[in-house]
Amino acid sequence: MNDLPALPAFPVSRPRRLRRTAALRRLAGEVSVRPGDLILPMFVAESASEPRLIGSMPGVVQHSLDSLAKAAIGAVEAGVGGLMLFGIPMHKDPVGSGADDPHGILNLALARLKFELGDATVLMGDLCLDEFTDHGHCGVLSTDGSVDNDATLQRYASMALAQAEAGADLLGTSGMMDGQVGVVRQALDGANRSDVGVLAYAPKYASAFYGPFREAVDSSLTGDRLTYQQDPARGAREALAEVALDVAEGADMVMVKPALPYLDILAAVSAASPVPVAAYQVSGEYAMIEAAAERGWIDRERVVLETLLSIRRAGAAMILTYWAHEAAILLR
Ligand code: PBG
Repeated sequence: MNDLPALPAFPVSRPRRLRRTAALRRLAGEVSVRPGDLILPMFVAESASEPRLIGSMPGVVQHSLDSLAKAAIGAVEAGVGGLMLFGIPMHKDPVGSGADDPHGILNLALARLKFELGDATVLMGDLCLDEFTDHGHCGVLSTDGSVDNDATLQRYASMALAQAEAGADLLGTSGMMDGQVGVVRQALDGANRSDVGVLAYAPKYASAFYGPFREAVDSSLTGDRLTYQQDPARGAREALAEVALDVAEGADMVMVKPALPYLDILAAVSAASPVPVAAYQVSGEYAMIEAAAERGWIDRERVVLETLLSIRRAGAAMILTYWAHEAAILLR
């Protein structure tokens, strides 16, 4: 009477089988983070004679040149794959003169780390004017107060040459001016520095998650960056267009920023990009986790490693994170 096949007494498919032991889980794992995939962003302040705490980023400091060198060597020994430097000058002006001055703090720091570390790590400099301008914008201003794209490009070209001369391996073009990668590439090639590469921030969103960073670099900005950084309400279409432009202009790598709130964008970019893709776990992502952990609300180490795994799973080959040194130790 009943010609239906007999149902098995138990489910045939048991996903829990591969979760039973640590060894099975390790074998079944598909994504991992290696210390060498991590890039440590570091701050160096011209006026610092010893490390200064940054209130909004517990555990992160503004370094002096000496403490920077020591911390950088430690991070490289721990296995991190690269260092991204940000400089905080003593004096700021409308055009950010400290940015392309060979004796400006960022260039001095790059030169110092090149001297200390040579080719043992990948040295990167933030190529943007915001730390050096008295108005805090990423470019120079027009008479009407808007950021002048093409005048800024001239400043970036000069900055690129100064950073290359100081010893940077890759230049992190983070200002979101149209054409910035092309201008930097052209300036480098014209100065016989075709060996220096460009890590292009594309896509980079106008994000409130950069909040703690503003304190970290003593930012002078009073407004916002909505006229040059991307609108979070735009989707992957615009992100892919930005990536295509930067690649066409000569970007060697691209970077999605911020990371965790933009994993959809990261996944789209990593699926389409012909060049390696990095993601920047920014200051606000860091601060939120540190704050919750401080209150005992989350397990700090597990959450940190889980976020890194998530960013890798979404497709990032490299991750910029303020936990790079510590995570490198945890992952070893
Ligand atoms: C621009 C720059 C910023 C960050 C990296 N490069 C600030 C900004 O765009 O406003 C933010 C990084 C972070 O929040 O951790 N120089």
